[in-house]
Amino acid sequence: MQHRLILYSVLITFLIPNLLTDAIQARSDKEQPQTQVQSVVPVQAQAQLSSSAASASGPSSTFNPLGPNVMCSFLPRDFLECKEPIDHRNNETALKEKGYGCLRFGGSSYEDVAHTKVQCTVFTDIDCYGARTFFRDGEPCVRYTDHYFVTTLIYSMLLGFLGMDRFCLGQTGTAVGKLLTMGGVGVWWIIDVILLITNNLLPEDGSNWNPYV
Ligand SMILES: *[C@@H]1O[C@H](CO)[C@@H](O)[C@H](O)[C@H]1NC(C)=O
Repeated sequence: MQHRLILYSVLITFLIPNLLTDAIQARSDKEQPQTQVQSVVPVQAQAQLSSSAASASGPSSTFNPLGPNVMCSFLPRDFLECKEPIDHRNNETALKEKGYGCLRFGGSSYEDVAHTKVQCTVFTDIDCYGARTFFRDGEPCVRYTDHYFVTTLIYSMLLGFLGMDRFCLGQTGTAVGKLLTMGGVGVWWIIDVILLITNNLLPEDGSNWNPYV
């Protein structure tokens, strides 16, 4: 009996103050939700904000993630105007100096294509929080000029004996050879169709097939 009393009194002396402080804590949390929320702002985002202060135009107060404005750097690509990736033309020293950019362009599978960061600016009529100009990573090192796969394939099949496919791809030297030999007496004609389908005959300027027909 006495043991129980001691146990209860010990429990009460330890539990009640704990419960009280918890309750007080909960009440103060309720009263100041702002301070709790603000501590959630990612450190990286804050660093980005201060590092690119040159182009910052937002208010100087701390970012409120529950507010109506999104961080500019979190906006989807549709709201941004991004520069073309810098072409270092295989110059590794230039790439190291700059820290970003592309050594080479092109490639058809994701693994083939190099990725780099580019400078993006939010469109002027879009409201967002923080620096409106920033770097975005993961842009593919690809270029598009006016080369369409289907068009080129049709040229290759119908006018291959005149070298029209290679003329269109910008491979003028081999195109003239193909024209003079009438498509290698038919053999080169067929080979180029196969090369096109197997993705081994590509635009001379290193651009990718334009996906917008
Ligand atoms: C590579 O880039 C560096 C720095 O921009 C330049 O000094 C150098 O001349 C370039 N090398 C070639 C081969 O273009």
